[in-house]
Amino acid sequence: MNEIKRQKIYILGSADVFYKAIAAHLTGLINISLNGKDYFNLVLSGGDTPRELYRLLATEYRQRIPWPKIRLYWCDERLVAHDHPESNYRMVKETLLIDQPLPSENIFPMPTDLSTPEEAASSYENLLRSYFDGLWPRFDLILLGLGADGHTASLFPGTPAINEKNKWVVTTTQPKTLQSRLSLTLPVLNQARHIYFIVTGKDKSHALQRATSDPPDPINCPASAVRPVDGELNWWADWQAAQLI
Ligand code: 6PG
Repeated sequence: MNEIKRQKIYILGSADVFYKAIAAHLTGLINISLNGKDYFNLVLSGGDTPRELYRLLATEYRQRIPWPKIRLYWCDERLVAHDHPESNYRMVKETLLIDQPLPSENIFPMPTDLSTPEEAASSYENLLRSYFDGLWPRFDLILLGLGADGHTASLFPGTPAINEKNKWVVTTTQPKTLQSRLSLTLPVLNQARHIYFIVTGKDKSHALQRATSDPPDPINCPASAVRPVDGELNWWADWQAAQLI
């Protein structure tokens, strides 16, 4: 397992400062990364934490982002319709994509209308393979959230998906609701050039302490196994989440 080589932890106070700092850092990274490149491949997290960031990127920071050069993917998805209240695609559509800043052909939601979860996972993996060569896709930036139980994306503690070593996309089940999910796998996450974890709230403080500590504990805290092979890991935490680190 990759030890934490290049990890930065940013602890920021009030919510508006917090999200604006991430938005500024992210837009800077996009513009620096695009120097000489055609596209910036950005993976979006689901959940509630990133909503305000996505809203900022679509409004106050909109003009700072070369949207036609952005390609959007998802790190995970709930297997519900894309207009379902729990859909990660819908959450992004209502925030980041509110005024459709980029062409539809550059937006790659995870499919949720195929006949089985396995078919959906395979379909998304095939889509990724059509855009990325080689053994693993290497995204420019992956945004991740952190569950209070230590999960990230839809990689939940004690589930087989954590140990997946070959697939790019797997099916999983939310352990409490038994909701079917799709998730990128740890090898894919760890190939990223940059990873931002965005974590807020006191209820995440124990998980954040475990996730940022060595040695990683993948089974009990999958987020602790997110250790980029050759990339930068940035943790963005508000003071409540960062109380124990
Ligand atoms: C999802 C996310 C998941 C999320 C964490 C934190 O589909 O829910 O991908 O990994 O990031 O559960 O969720 P909150 O941001 O809602 O606390």
